[in-house]
Amino acid sequence: MGLRLLRILLIPFAAVVMAASIGILVIGRTRASSPTTTPQMSLTALGTPSTKAQISQGYTLFQQHCSFCHGTQADGTTGIAPNLQGLGPGVVDLWLSTGWMPLKTPSAQPENKQPSFSPAHIRDIAMWVASLRPGGVPFAPTIDMQQADLAKGFSLFTLNCAPCHTITGAGDALTQGYHAPPLHGVTAAMVWEAARSGPQNMPQFSPRNITPSQLNDIIKYVTQRIEHPTNPGGIGLGGVGPVAEGFVGLFVGVGACLLGAYWVGDRTEREEEEGHSGHGSDSSPEGAHA
Ligand code: HEC
Ligand code: HEC
Repeated sequence: MGLRLLRILLIPFAAVVMAASIGILVIGRTRASSPTTTPQMSLTALGTPSTKAQISQGYTLFQQHCSFCHGTQADGTTGIAPNLQGLGPGVVDLWLSTGWMPLKTPSAQPENKQPSFSPAHIRDIAMWVASLRPGGVPFAPTIDMQQADLAKGFSLFTLNCAPCHTITGAGDALTQGYHAPPLHGVTAAMVWEAARSGPQNMPQFSPRNITPSQLNDIIKYVTQRIEHPTNPGGIGLGGVGPVAEGFVGLFVGVGACLLGAYWVGDRTEREEEEGHSGHGSDSSPEGAHA
């Protein structure tokens, strides 16, 4: 019987659909939870006086790892990489803490990766570059999370950051092959420095756009809620976004419906068969026809 064969095929199909959905769910979760950078990369010792030793250590590291692209005086005279003078230590700190620098080849796209240097060495390099010309974006200040407002941070994030980074901070593709990176695993210092410097396609938020206390609210939201989502609506599905979540809902739901349909269909058929072999009761539809 064709119908029976169809029903037999339904079971493995339903099982595959449900397994695939659970797979999506698990992959989304591990992707979202794998930090792009180590969380302990915050610059806690920002207030320490810039000693000569640190600057000369930064000089040595820069000559070894950066000068062949940015030039020995970080002025971009090589023509391969931009002038770094005057950008400020916060910009250098951000580009090294995210792992964007150093590039392997000048034409490579900067990507999030494990930082190549320890926080102390990043600070040394940033301090040497900053010693060449004052100004620019400073190191992120120490942020008083006690004073920051999570609810305000949420609405400010929704308004200013979610259009690119998505409301769950999972990141999203932008136009022209650019990509807003996920914000899982970023530190308070990275959020501050990114907002104040506006790397690449990200807009720069001056203290007139976002006041210092508003930025602290956003930082609290990013480092506390996005890192540790509470998911009040139920299971978070790794915060991979509405499209993936819709698919999971669809496939798990459809898989469950198929299984249910099979179970119901199987029972009706058995009852029909019993009706035929028996005395043909009036309640069976075939009985009514005859
Ligand atoms: C292989 C070449 C290369 C090496 C090595 C390299 N950079 Fe870069 N760097 C670039 C290029 C190219 C850009 C421009 C990237 C872009 O905007 O897409 C850049 C951009 C930057 C920026 C951002 C500049 C801006 O205008 O915002 C900083 C900061 C930076 N590099 C610091 C460093 C430091 C510090 C090192 C050494 C640890 C380093 N780079 C090593 C090629 C390099
Ligand atoms: C127009 C889109 C856009 C908006 C709006 C935006 N960003 Fe970004 N953001 C980006 C892009 C693109 C990058 C990657 C830049 C790069 O690779 O140099 C980025 C990078 C970052 C990073 C570095 C993350 C990492 O690990 O690489 C942080 C932190 C960040 N943004 C926070 C914010 C915050 C906070 C706001 C809101 C105040 C915000 N962004 C608004 C596009 C955006």
